[in-house]
Amino acid sequence: MANASKFIDLIGKTPLVDLTSLTRAAQLYAKCEFLNPSFSMKDRIAKYILEMAEATNQLKPDDTIVCSSSGNTGCSIAMLGAIKGYSVIIVVSDKCSMEKQNHIKSFNATLIVVDERDYVEYGKKLAQDNDYFDVNQYDNPYNPETYYKTLGPEIWKETNGKITHFVMTGSTFGCISGTAKFLKEKKQAIQVTLADPLYSNIHSYYYNGYLKNNPQYQPVATTQSYLIEGAGKQKPTQCLDFSVIDEVLQVSDQEAISTCHKLAEKEGLFVGGSSGINVFAATIVANRLKREDVVVTVLADNGIKYLSKIYDPRFLTQNKIKTSYV
Ligand SMILES: Cc1ncc(COP(=O)(O)O)c(C=O)c1O
Repeated sequence: MANASKFIDLIGKTPLVDLTSLTRAAQLYAKCEFLNPSFSMKDRIAKYILEMAEATNQLKPDDTIVCSSSGNTGCSIAMLGAIKGYSVIIVVSDKCSMEKQNHIKSFNATLIVVDERDYVEYGKKLAQDNDYFDVNQYDNPYNPETYYKTLGPEIWKETNGKITHFVMTGSTFGCISGTAKFLKEKKQAIQVTLADPLYSNIHSYYYNGYLKNNPQYQPVATTQSYLIEGAGKQKPTQCLDFSVIDEVLQVSDQEAISTCHKLAEKEGLFVGGSSGINVFAATIVANRLKREDVVVTVLADNGIKYLSKIYDPRFLTQNKIKTSYV
């Protein structure tokens, strides 16, 4: 069969879809990252980080891999670990959807669920204490480098260099930092918007810390939380490069989830909550611009991962999210 590929070779090179019908002004396009083999863009970093670790002998046969994750990187590492024959331990927070938890377990990985505030540190300590290989996606420079080498060039090529704006949420901030660095090197005028969930702290760190040149800045602690997974953080990571970000827009759970439902109803796109954040913010950006401007965003993962949450009428009612289908 001359045309058959290995499944792992299907990572990346996702299609770009046209969402301009959702805007009043500029053109809007989105990368279908939910079409990656484990249904999220995180397959890209999992593949690159493991390949680089193997090439530099940090990861050897029979080693154990540890990965702290809001879920998707865990799914990707568990999938690739299974293919490559490593033992894999994934540490997620109790916010991680059951669908993602079961997806991780389906690849025979060991799953550890801990409190949301502690899961990153828990994974680090587990790796240090046992001499396991730590994916360390929050601080690993290979994370942004993945997008610098793949997603950025794909977007540049697919828009024939016409992109004027890039909009993306962040959790490790590898995607926005690496993609924006590539795009701005190609064309400095490209504007980059970070879409941050309401009650994440990154909006505040950007405007009150980074832009005011105050590295000691600490936001006031809040007890408010948000529903969307894989977006926002309590504090910046080492992967976050504020210098390539031009503005930060806040998006509420209601805005993100309503956008997901609208994408399903109007475009047949079934995507996760962070894609709702991205498309909502990208629409705000697009509506300020002119028709010749080209805004690009990312549909980061598949809605199947949240069937029991943002697509479950009971969950929506419990969390006071208004929707047409409850
Ligand atoms: C669904 C989803 N969207 C967006 C992101 C944010 O990407 P990044 O970690 O590169 O900032 C993540 C990361 O966990 C994710 O899982």
